[in-house]
Amino acid sequence: MPIIFDKALQIFHLQNNQLSYIIGIEKEQYITHRYFGTRLSSYNSSNELQKIDRGFATNPIPENRQFSLNAWPMESSSQGTGDHRIPNYQIRNEQGQNVTDFQFTDYIIYQGKKPLQGLPSLRPERASTLELILEDPIQKLKMILVYTLYEDHPVITRNVRFENLNKASVYLENAGSLLLDFPRNNLDLVTLNGSHTNEANLHRQALYPGIQKIESSRGTSSPQHQPFLALVNRETTEFSGEVFAFHLVYSGNFVAQVEVEQYGSSRIQLGIQSDTFEWKLSSNEVFQTPEVIITYSNCGFNQMSQTFHEIYQKHLVPIPFSKKERPVLLNTWEANYFALSENTLLKQASLASELGIELFVLDDGWFGNRNDDNSSLGDWDVNFEKLPNGIEGLADKIHKMGMQFGLWFEPEMISKNSDLFRSHPDWALQVLNYPMTEGRRQLVLDLSKLEVQDYLIMQLNHYLSTEKVDYIKWDMNRHLTEIGNISLPADQQKEISHRYVLGLYRILDTVTKKYPKVLFENCSSGGGRFDPGMMAYMPQSWTSDNSDAFSRTIIQYGYSYLYPPIMMGAHVSDVPNHQVGRFTPLTTRGWIAMSGNLGYELDITKQTTEDLALIKQQIQFYKKHRKLLQFGTFYRLQAPSKTFASAWLFKNEEEALLLYFNGLAQPAVPLQYLTLHYLNDDALYQNSETGKCFSGSELNHAGILIPRLKGDFETLVYHWKKL
Ligand code: GLA
Repeated sequence: MPIIFDKALQIFHLQNNQLSYIIGIEKEQYITHRYFGTRLSSYNSSNELQKIDRGFATNPIPENRQFSLNAWPMESSSQGTGDHRIPNYQIRNEQGQNVTDFQFTDYIIYQGKKPLQGLPSLRPERASTLELILEDPIQKLKMILVYTLYEDHPVITRNVRFENLNKASVYLENAGSLLLDFPRNNLDLVTLNGSHTNEANLHRQALYPGIQKIESSRGTSSPQHQPFLALVNRETTEFSGEVFAFHLVYSGNFVAQVEVEQYGSSRIQLGIQSDTFEWKLSSNEVFQTPEVIITYSNCGFNQMSQTFHEIYQKHLVPIPFSKKERPVLLNTWEANYFALSENTLLKQASLASELGIELFVLDDGWFGNRNDDNSSLGDWDVNFEKLPNGIEGLADKIHKMGMQFGLWFEPEMISKNSDLFRSHPDWALQVLNYPMTEGRRQLVLDLSKLEVQDYLIMQLNHYLSTEKVDYIKWDMNRHLTEIGNISLPADQQKEISHRYVLGLYRILDTVTKKYPKVLFENCSSGGGRFDPGMMAYMPQSWTSDNSDAFSRTIIQYGYSYLYPPIMMGAHVSDVPNHQVGRFTPLTTRGWIAMSGNLGYELDITKQTTEDLALIKQQIQFYKKHRKLLQFGTFYRLQAPSKTFASAWLFKNEEEALLLYFNGLAQPAVPLQYLTLHYLNDDALYQNSETGKCFSGSELNHAGILIPRLKGDFETLVYHWKKL
């Protein structure tokens, strides 16, 4: 069993081939953090705890002045008893008091991993779990810290369960998923931040005293911040150095923070954001927090990313899609916007099928009176003026062309101007006496209500049960406001944001289990809710509403820290680009889109013959190398530089593909050899274009010359067969 309890030392050692994570029990009741990092063959407490009688320290054991909860490295905070660093939980009792005293009472170790009630989480397979049981004997509360270690990956997951064994209710004002105290602060903090159309920009800065945090209070994980942080050594690069990374499996309000405290340790905490949360925990009820995935790499960011990529493909996305190739699609949005007619769509579809496209996706505009984005969300009845043969009629024709058929929905939304709102105004999120704030002229359905959840399941069922819809793009285009539900009592209003997420997960769980063959694509104005929680139901996500090829080198680069290319929807769109007005060559647009899940989103009937021929070639190349591009290992070789040049590599056992995006052309071309780092040193690689052979070691270390490239945004492509 890779989780060992050393009774003499009172130490739990979670250990696989790559990492060790060590937890200590002190004074028989306090859970301390002792080590996390590269694998230790054994542990005998060489890094003993610091015992100093500190000024201002409070002492749980009065005569032991060298022991204070405010200084020790912990695995969970305490509350009101002297730990003044950021907490992982806060509980208020019926008397309004905010003190608890949880003490370790017992532990269980078992093979596998339990699913989390109502929440997505990694599946177990070659995993074992440790549960540390803590109790507050005065208030009869339990807090269970759950750790799962994966045997084949440098991965541990953590979550917390709160149980109320008392007769009286308590209020969880904060229910975090993870806390741990690192014994150092000479580290950089890495996060992914951005905005709509500019998601997942990489941010790295040195830790400094005090709290550094990212969070969302928007109701979704948001395009502003990814529920992720990593602490890395100052010298860590893509290729080397230590990375300690944390990713929260949750799609709602979250916080990810680090506090560098007075004596130089760093407290890490992740979980549901507490300002927008409270949960009434009645007698005998349990509250389950979301899961955090922790990984350790001692080979830089590339190794961290590959761990996330592998574990998400293997243990998170729905099983039917874990190894399933994804179709090349045509999406109607940027080609038609709301101006849909069956005739035009069929012309586009027929050409698409000639080009080799495999899935035709009908985006927004097909239902109700949806001629712009001011109305009709909620009225999911087909607009027969646009589609006289209905969805089924259109789908039949698309199927006859040999393509799959996909449909856009924005299920969580309701337009004020819709029949649904006229008949169920109470279904929108709202509070008494205040107007409902619109965004994109739409309101948010209150998914915390069971009847709303059931209605949405019924609506989706209506389309999916016909078996004509092979794919659904699930969109969500605004954040939550006026978060209230008049059927809940006053002391439970702050539960709604979390109940919303639980409601969303219930719908997704029901529908994706009932229709396991249907491919769901996650979307929230692009990457606005691109998080592991959503990926547990939908194996791919529209990456950004910004389809400009150059912007995508940065956005896809950032998302690749956590998500493999197969999860990132990437479309070739028209020029000038609709979001930024930029012209980029069709070749480059193709290579960027092929670096994700390839799709096209432009009016193909308006392209020149040459461009159509090129599109056809792109699709042929993609299909031929789909195994490499969708399931190969992805390596970042060069981050977007001053001139925005960047490079990445795909590799599997048979072949390798290097893409170098040149960014802005330069007048005085610098001397640059790009080294590939990750080919097999001893293997021979044959360039598919020139036929020349090179050893992996030569390409890895001597590298290839980057030639002079004229014109902005050109791409250099090298494909090798492994001999
Ligand atoms: C969002 C999506 C787009 C498109 C539109 C339709 O912005 O991200 O891809 O589906 O909605 O309204």
